[in-house]
Amino acid sequence: MSTEAVFLIVDDETEVCNFFVYLLKKKGYRAVTASSGREAIAKLDQERFDVALVDLKLPDSNGLEILKEIKAKQPACEVIIITGYSTVKSAVEAIQLGAFDYVEKPFVDIDEMERLLERSLNVKAELEQLSLKHRVRGFVVGKNPKMISLIAAAQKIAKKNITVLIQGETGTGKEVLARYIHAESHRADRPFIAFNCGAFTETLLESELFGHEKGSFTGATSKKKGLFELAHKATLFLDEIDAASPAIQIKLLRVLESGEFFRVGGEELCKVDVRVIAATNTNLAARVEENKFREDLFYRLDVASLHIPPLRERVEDIPLFLEYFLEKESRAKEIPLKKFSPEALVVLQQHSWPGNIRELANTVTQALVLSKGPLITVDDLPARIRPAIAGPTAGSPVESPLTGGLFGLSPGLPDNSKLHDLLEQLMQTLLEKINFREGFPFEEVYQSLNRWRDRIAGEIIACALEETYGNQVKAAQLLGITPRALRYHLQKSRETK
Ligand SMILES: Nc1ncnc2c1ncn2[C@@H]1O[C@H](COP(=O)(O)OP(=O)(O)OP(=O)(O)O)[C@@H](O)[C@H]1O
Ligand SMILES: [Mg+2]
Repeated sequence: MSTEAVFLIVDDETEVCNFFVYLLKKKGYRAVTASSGREAIAKLDQERFDVALVDLKLPDSNGLEILKEIKAKQPACEVIIITGYSTVKSAVEAIQLGAFDYVEKPFVDIDEMERLLERSLNVKAELEQLSLKHRVRGFVVGKNPKMISLIAAAQKIAKKNITVLIQGETGTGKEVLARYIHAESHRADRPFIAFNCGAFTETLLESELFGHEKGSFTGATSKKKGLFELAHKATLFLDEIDAASPAIQIKLLRVLESGEFFRVGGEELCKVDVRVIAATNTNLAARVEENKFREDLFYRLDVASLHIPPLRERVEDIPLFLEYFLEKESRAKEIPLKKFSPEALVVLQQHSWPGNIRELANTVTQALVLSKGPLITVDDLPARIRPAIAGPTAGSPVESPLTGGLFGLSPGLPDNSKLHDLLEQLMQTLLEKINFREGFPFEEVYQSLNRWRDRIAGEIIACALEETYGNQVKAAQLLGITPRALRYHLQKSRETK
């Protein structure tokens, strides 16, 4: 650098101050020290600093307060928080309040520290690059300031070995963000194991997570490793963490605290090193208030807390997402790139997107299939997106052979008794009409009935997927089947088309 960079070191431990003064001088930078919050503020009034290193625990103040003071007095000054193990959570909070990074005492890796100090002098370049990119490792960031700070925080948190809790409405990209964190972490060359806690019963959930010994419950015919064992030295993504029962919450707390657990029915203590990233689309703090989720587990998970805003709070990025998915889908389907008409773009920007990015991605896929020419118009958009004024057909319920003509049902208003009667009648008629004489083509009739059933199941699954904005786990729950069964039926129904 042409001008000498100046660092402010705020720590009441003289050794810490001396250590940084020595390190910075060696690199040709100037360092000013302060041993209390008051002294730090006085120094801030005297001169401009490029970077401040601030201890979280100060005799007369705390690092977060000093961080706020620095950002108010000298916004261009980057802040690195110095923390002990017990205050990591506050240090992560500091990152979300705009600190550049945090370092843990005692300082073990001096090379890493030197790199961090260098990087702190080039933050602007790093941030500019990030906001220009709009897209990192399959994660579309966009221009929304909240999203830019979120991804910047995620990038830093990724490198630390701490538990992360991601919250956000359905379809906001919690899993995509978790994958991004894993890809940016030191565990990137190890697997990312994703698991949905909401998709299993309590017994199965426990055995999936922690494994079981042979004969530990009905159906446990052999010993099985759980996900915590499989994710050793890797990342385990626990989706819908709020679905864990109280008994499982205790086991999770223990494994997060000590890395230790027992397999179901086992006596051998297992020890693992797993980085957990948990996600939920509920407000977990509120679940704690309602006594539905353990407070201690919540704090264990919530060391680093990331909240993804819903799409309706970042409407400026809708065109970017539309373009991204249009390109992605066209490439996947090997069709020439299409464009949205200006009117369609307006409609899409006005939609509230309750299913967030997932709903948007599915909408693009549907519109792409429906559109004939190179332009995707308002009429090509799914009915739930089109505003009521757009035309006589707009806003009408989605018609499908099952929900429309065949059973006279409208989605959202299933007349179950009517459906029951109809099925009963249909069965009677079929059985009466079938003539089981000699030479009856048993196989043919049986197979065609199977195909018919598969097609109907496919239609019902399609409706459930529409209802859940394409979330297979939620659609399976709606239908009372497992996600695996849902995928099987979906495949079957595709084969019959
Ligand atoms: N920032 C993003 N960039 C690119 N694709 C995204 C982004 N956010 C979400 N998506 C896409 O949206 C869909 C839903 O994302 P994801 O599964 O991560 O959501 P979620 O928050 O985990 O939802 P749920 O709570 O329902 O599980 C995925 O197909 C994903 O590819
Ligand atoms: Mg998810």
